[in-house]
Amino acid sequence: MPKAQIRQSIDLTLDSAIGEGGLEQAALDGAMRDMEGALARLRGEASAKSLALLGLPSSTDDIAPVKSAAARLRDGATDVVFLGTGGSSLGGQALAQLAGYGVPGLGRFAELPRVHFLDNLDPDTFALLLTRLPLATSRFVAVSKSGGTGETLVQTIAIIAALREAGLGDEIGQRFQGLSEPLKKGGRNALRALLEPFGVPFLDHHTGVGGRYSVLTNCGLLPASVLGLDIDALRAGAALALAPVIANKAVADVPAAVGAALNLAAMRSGKGIAVLMPYADRLALVTRWWVQLWAESLGKDGKGSQPVSALGPVDQHSQQQLYLAGPKDKLFTVLTLAVKGRGPLIDAELAMQAGEPGLGSKHIGDLVAAQGLAMVDTFARNGRAVRRLQIDTLNEASLGEILMHFMLETVLTGYAMGIDPFDQPAVEEAKLLAKSYLAEGRG
Ligand code: PA5
Repeated sequence: MPKAQIRQSIDLTLDSAIGEGGLEQAALDGAMRDMEGALARLRGEASAKSLALLGLPSSTDDIAPVKSAAARLRDGATDVVFLGTGGSSLGGQALAQLAGYGVPGLGRFAELPRVHFLDNLDPDTFALLLTRLPLATSRFVAVSKSGGTGETLVQTIAIIAALREAGLGDEIGQRFQGLSEPLKKGGRNALRALLEPFGVPFLDHHTGVGGRYSVLTNCGLLPASVLGLDIDALRAGAALALAPVIANKAVADVPAAVGAALNLAAMRSGKGIAVLMPYADRLALVTRWWVQLWAESLGKDGKGSQPVSALGPVDQHSQQQLYLAGPKDKLFTVLTLAVKGRGPLIDAELAMQAGEPGLGSKHIGDLVAAQGLAMVDTFARNGRAVRRLQIDTLNEASLGEILMHFMLETVLTGYAMGIDPFDQPAVEEAKLLAKSYLAEGRG
């Protein structure tokens, strides 16, 4: 079995290492003890196969349908548009970024097919998209686990109308792909009711995996596969994060459990904010995905910590002042890659001319590596609790491992907090209220 890539270090979260502002060893020890029950519960679910998320890394039967749907979508397409919101989009976006989607500066050079994720509902964006999109060579994927999310339904209806207007009404079945839960006996699924009469094929959303945990289901794997990513490797990487749970390891030897204990200790010690700061453009959307995962899973019963997404080194130029000199109410996680020696070599003479000889003969990756390490040490020197995660190479396997690590960390934290990390009652409430306001013409 390949080795796990993530290396986690939590030394610089403790007051013994960073002084006032760090966590007390006793707080961490208490959280580690509480994590034993949470880990035992998770392990029990793994062996009873009662938590579908844990079965995903070893599942293979759903891979072939994803690959064939992706091939069908790619065929002759210049653009593939993913409709869906929240957990029905963020996981796909996080994976797509590995292939360059949403990387600053690279968007205009995207290889065909270009992918678009319309996870927000903005009338102006949508109208502009419809005028710019080459409809004749575009494909559409409507994703909604419930099939009843208003944003996704109105987007889908608007696309159908646009296709009809463009004289492509007879081809809706070939242009679209649906992804939703199978129709329950006696139940309703608005997305299926809308699209199936046109002959639109559907992939079944896993009934046992909720939106924000669905990145490794067909929900995330379909866009990844459209972009040519190795989805088998994503799952294999996820298996590496899960392996120590299944192998009956103690809390201290399960990186996700250690991370969960750290977060629990931080929350209990008055650190109500968790900041995730990777030093890689291609992990920026992972932080958005994680923000949803953490917030929607753990913000319950008056508990939870505020997840904040940051990116290095760019946010050193926007948030660092607050992070280093503001309140000591945050737990930082800095995620770095082994980027030394990567990227363009900085010309020594030109660096001299710029008056910065120290930059000369270094690679851009050397600078970023130094910045990541310096940031970690600066957090520590300023009494800011900082965990460091390191991976050597960002690829499908390591990304799968990162995603599963954070999902396990979230679930374990929820279990130890005594809340259900899988429901989202407050989200449902706002969805229903918006529908009744729309009917009343309010807004
Ligand atoms: O994580 C979640 O459960 C939510 O963010 C949902 O994914 C989001 O509300 C979209 O729901 P659906 O997939 O049913 O359209």
